[in-house]
Amino acid sequence: MLNKLAASELVLNDDGSVYHLNLLPEDIADKIILVGDPDRVPKVSQYFDKVEIKKNKREFYTHTGVLRGERISVMSTGIGTENIDIVMNELDALVNIDLKNKEIKTEHKALELFRMGTCGSVNPDVQVDNMLVTQNVVGLDGLMHFYKDYHFENDFSKNFIEKFPYEKIKPMLYFADWAEDIAEYYKDARYHGNTATFPGFYAPQGRQLRLKSLDDKFLETLNELGITNFEMETSAIYAFSKLLGHKAITVNNVIANRRRGEFSSDHHASEKNLIEWVLERIIK
Ligand code: URA
Repeated sequence: MLNKLAASELVLNDDGSVYHLNLLPEDIADKIILVGDPDRVPKVSQYFDKVEIKKNKREFYTHTGVLRGERISVMSTGIGTENIDIVMNELDALVNIDLKNKEIKTEHKALELFRMGTCGSVNPDVQVDNMLVTQNVVGLDGLMHFYKDYHFENDFSKNFIEKFPYEKIKPMLYFADWAEDIAEYYKDARYHGNTATFPGFYAPQGRQLRLKSLDDKFLETLNELGITNFEMETSAIYAFSKLLGHKAITVNNVIANRRRGEFSSDHHASEKNLIEWVLERIIK
């Protein structure tokens, strides 16, 4: 295999940092919290005992510091799996590619990635302002089909693909699941569920403003196939982690119950609760 990467493939900034994340290898910890919203980054890092690094470019903001003696990073990814394509490839490059020589390292390093986000539940019994940990995920965004070696199958995926009725979307589906050993941290979460990740917020998630979505019964149909919640990032985070040898787990705050038409009455309070809940569990 040709290990040396061309300048056009692994693009670096003038200071040698990876292009979009604007980070050098020493700027990140092995434990990284991934949030969507750049404004959430300081809301997390305010709990660190010390913040050593603050860097950003576009929607990618990173703070790295120390909490209870352990190094930790928090990074914003923006919205959607197309951003996760950038985040996961560049994070992996920071630890598994020698950026100076542009060569893939022979020794592999695994990162621990903790996605902390928001979602909408499609199970009417899953209540807003509670935390839901993703065990299985189905990607309806198609991203991983561009990667040659990606394949994942388990009982959940086999049942889902067999019964999924939307023939036009079926070719886009791909699956992944959580990293067992770090899922341990979250064993006391209120909900553990199966998440569907979409390439959009409105019709892809069955929302209808002036435009109609594919099917009025979309939420019910996906819920009957075992899906508990909808969001826009976890499929790619879990799938890249499998392909690149990292460990990932997602916990989302349920901010909407789509089947009951309910929205969180105080999403700022539940965001604060989520941040404290995650930090307590991932740093002992
Ligand atoms: N994020 C989503 O993608 N969907 C929701 O319903 C809530 C948060």
